Amino acid sequence: MARGKKIYEGKAKVLYEGPEPGTIVQYFKDDATAFNAEKKDVIDGKGVLNNRLSEFFMLGLGQIGVPTHFLKRLNMREQLVRSCEIIPLEVIVRNFAAGSMAKRLGLEEGTQLSRPVVEYSYKDDALGDPLVPEEYIAAFGWASPQDMEDILSIALRVNDFLSGVMYGVGIKLIDFKIEIGRVYDGDFQRLVVADEISPDSCRLWDIETGRKLDKDVFRRDLGNLTDAYSEVARRLGVLPKNATPITKPTLIN
Ligand SMILES: Nc1ncnc2c1ncn2[C@@H]1O[C@H](COP(=O)(O)OP(=O)(O)OP(=O)(O)O)[C@@H](O)[C@H]1O
Ligand SMILES: [Mg+2]
Repeated sequence: MARGKKIYEGKAKVLYEGPEPGTIVQYFKDDATAFNAEKKDVIDGKGVLNNRLSEFFMLGLGQIGVPTHFLKRLNMREQLVRSCEIIPLEVIVRNFAAGSMAKRLGLEEGTQLSRPVVEYSYKDDALGDPLVPEEYIAAFGWASPQDMEDILSIALRVNDFLSGVMYGVGIKLIDFKIEIGRVYDGDFQRLVVADEISPDSCRLWDIETGRKLDKDVFRRDLGNLTDAYSEVARRLGVLPKNATPITKPTLIN
């Protein structure tokens, strides 16, 4: 498919104009970054895996009635999505303490929380995506109180869906981050899950062994990232069971 002009190049993806107005082609790169891009590398095959995994999760969410930006996968590295106005928040849902929460509160990573906790950071690379109190969100006009109600309900539905899907394949969903976009249908606007859902944006631990199967493998130098993501893809049936870890993208179409 002929893609249009480049709109934006981020750390993990490139956005191009789509074939029709209101559509965007998302191209998944192999670049991995962590700690606000202080640590960088190119991980062979990561983009291919994330494109497939994000397709899998977005389709599943669509099937249970959670609206997403996903339209269709175009090829190994590209998917067609609805263009949205991204709400400048990272919506983080946590089931177990890890990462910044564990550090901030002095909790051991993996401590189960008594209920899912939703928190928000303001999407601004220059500021390092700071955690913000919910009160800031309406005060600075990033989202209305009605939007925040919808966002909370979407976030918890995504959490229930992802936790269940992961539990079914022996993986514990520790936490994840999503982005929410606004789309307009005539005079109506609604919120959809946008960006991506992949092991780049989740913490996933093997239930039996505690092995990390997410971007912490890269952040903390715990081994081969593509092996970890391939393991998730195989368990979910996104990659054939006997597939060897992807290094050559020709393994899947
Ligand atoms: N459906 C969509 N419509 C418009 N923009 C989108 C959509 N889905 C995702 N985006 C935006 O596209 C960009 C994806 O690129 P990438 O994930 O590489 O960005 P990034 O380096 O993480 O930077 P950012 O801080 O902007 O998220 C993000 O800015 C994301 O908010
Ligand atoms: Mg991003």
